[in-house]
Amino acid sequence: MSNRVYIFDTTLRDGEQSPGVSLNINEKLQIARQLARLGVDIIEAGFPITSPGDFAAVQAVSREVRGVTVAGLARANFKDIDGAYEALKEAEQARIHIFLATSDIHLKYKLRKDREQVLEAAVAAVKYAKKYTSDVEFSAEDASRSDVDYLSRVFGEVIKAGATVINIPDTVGYVTPEEYGRFIRQVMDRTPGIEKVVVSVHCHDDLGMAVANSLAAVGAGARQVEGTINGIGERAGNTALEEVVMGLYTRKDLYGLTTGFNTKEIYRTSRLVSSLTGMPVQPNKAVVGKNAFAHESGIHQDGVLKERTTYEIMNPEMLGISSNNLVLGKHSGRHAFREHLSQLGYDLTDEELNLAFGRFKALADKKKEITDQDLQALVEDEIRQI
Ligand code: KIV
Ligand code: ZN
Repeated sequence: MSNRVYIFDTTLRDGEQSPGVSLNINEKLQIARQLARLGVDIIEAGFPITSPGDFAAVQAVSREVRGVTVAGLARANFKDIDGAYEALKEAEQARIHIFLATSDIHLKYKLRKDREQVLEAAVAAVKYAKKYTSDVEFSAEDASRSDVDYLSRVFGEVIKAGATVINIPDTVGYVTPEEYGRFIRQVMDRTPGIEKVVVSVHCHDDLGMAVANSLAAVGAGARQVEGTINGIGERAGNTALEEVVMGLYTRKDLYGLTTGFNTKEIYRTSRLVSSLTGMPVQPNKAVVGKNAFAHESGIHQDGVLKERTTYEIMNPEMLGISSNNLVLGKHSGRHAFREHLSQLGYDLTDEELNLAFGRFKALADKKKEITDQDLQALVEDEIRQI
């Protein structure tokens, strides 16, 4: 089994399903370009059939972002698949991502179909998508609450029909790590043809276990992890990808696995997503929270000053958090100012930068030290509102 874990980012699709979040096409492009720099393997750019805006965003990302696979979501019907391909067709590598629920609860109340009908629809959809692209992912929505034998049968048939990735979502964030790891192993043991495809996981955080569940699944043999930056998403959110990647990296001794992530871009990506979605990152959030590397108690401070690894298991510089934080004040120049804003995830036009720099100088005259919060407020309240 390969030791490479593929990272599938769905910030622009599942992440955008966070209540209150709506990104315009330019914001989506900015995020997609940054995700490519970050080194994600797949960007799920949207669900093209749902709206003209989503269609246009998937099309723009496909056209303009290179070096990654671009995925578009589709239900298991021909119209959705046609729409997804139409939006994706200029991508360097296009993936059609089809989903259909397999749990009895979804079959009975949502789809009003029996198991055989769902199986048939899944196979027909995958076969249809294959005429457009070789790269087809099939997600069994609510897989973790599905009957394992039925689920494995569905996966076996969609693999025969040409699926190259099978995804086992914990759609409602219900499972625990031990349970999910066991479930992934059972599916892998029972699904014919499983060795030909990539096994993927997609977890939600309703019980706060999305990252732990994803890592348990990887331990059990999954080789694609789906999630979002900062863990944003529907309800309590999705797996926070930066946490999974740093978990795999920091505990390489345990997992022995690698990703293609350029970890130095993590902090910048987190800031960009937070500023464009308007979803703040909680201060004590793992990896990217403001306090993630702050040491308050005297004993900890003393330890870190003597030897960093006494209380730090990750090096903040690895995440792109610079340790020689340039302090900005009234003598700071435009270059340091731009650099600092970029580290906070703001990529301003020249015109916005000029405006922001003028306001910053005015503020610096009144305030000796300008904090990151001051800069965030300045950009978000004064520049982005204009
Ligand atoms: O949570 C889920 O099941 C999904 C699928 C569309 C993969 O988002
Ligand atoms: Zn989801």
